[in-house]
Amino acid sequence: MIEPVTITTERLKLRPYTLDDCEELTRVIGRREIYETTLNIPHPYTIEDARSYIGRNDEARLNDRDFPCAVTLKQSGAIIGGCGLMVNRKMDRAEMGYWMAVEQWGKGYTTEAARALIRHGFEVLNLNCIEAHHFVSNPASGRVMTKAGMRFEGRLRQRAKKDGQYHDVDMYSIIRSEYEASRK
Ligand SMILES: CC(C)(COP(=O)(O)OP(=O)(O)OC[C@H]1O[C@@H](n2cnc3c(N)ncnc32)[C@H](O)[C@@H]1OP(=O)(O)O)[C@@H](O)C(=O)NCCC(=O)NCCS
Repeated sequence: MIEPVTITTERLKLRPYTLDDCEELTRVIGRREIYETTLNIPHPYTIEDARSYIGRNDEARLNDRDFPCAVTLKQSGAIIGGCGLMVNRKMDRAEMGYWMAVEQWGKGYTTEAARALIRHGFEVLNLNCIEAHHFVSNPASGRVMTKAGMRFEGRLRQRAKKDGQYHDVDMYSIIRSEYEASRK
């Protein structure tokens, strides 16, 4: 059996989800605020959604395709968010995504998780580029990207469609040479 990869930071542990997480995940991710600025999280979020998402994760990790993680508090083990890399192996590139429990917003947890994911992406997954996108109406996410060392690439006009509305999207990225320079 392949040992599941976990990442430990100052306050967090990023680890694979297991089916035992279904109830906790459903409770934490279920707030409408999280749905509103994301594209792939259903609302209302059901136990079935959690089961199907977690079921798909193992396969993705094993195939070196995606790197989805539960964001948990190191001290208590509580799930407070989720993050991940969707890997395009052919391009040595990944897209980063994340969400955080509403009651934990503004504590720097997502930035801490994003920095750890970026490090993992370059140092372990051997990527060349990590990108991320956010709705223009969600500046907190752009702030996370900036704080994690990513650079603004541009505004993609009406790139996303959600609930029948088109949204402008800001794109950020960090490339390997920038990451390495930042480590010196
Ligand atoms: C976006 C999100 C992940 C941020 O999580 P978080 O844990 O609060 O992020 P952090 O605490 O690490 O950093 C947030 C930063 O945004 C800033 N911020 C918050 N609201 C803001 C606003 N309206 N405008 C500009 N900056 C804002 C905070 O002040 C903080 O920056 P600072 O440290 O310089 O003060 C969280 O709000 C969330 O889960 N939203 C719903 C899901 C989502 O949008 N996911 C991202 C999709 S691209």
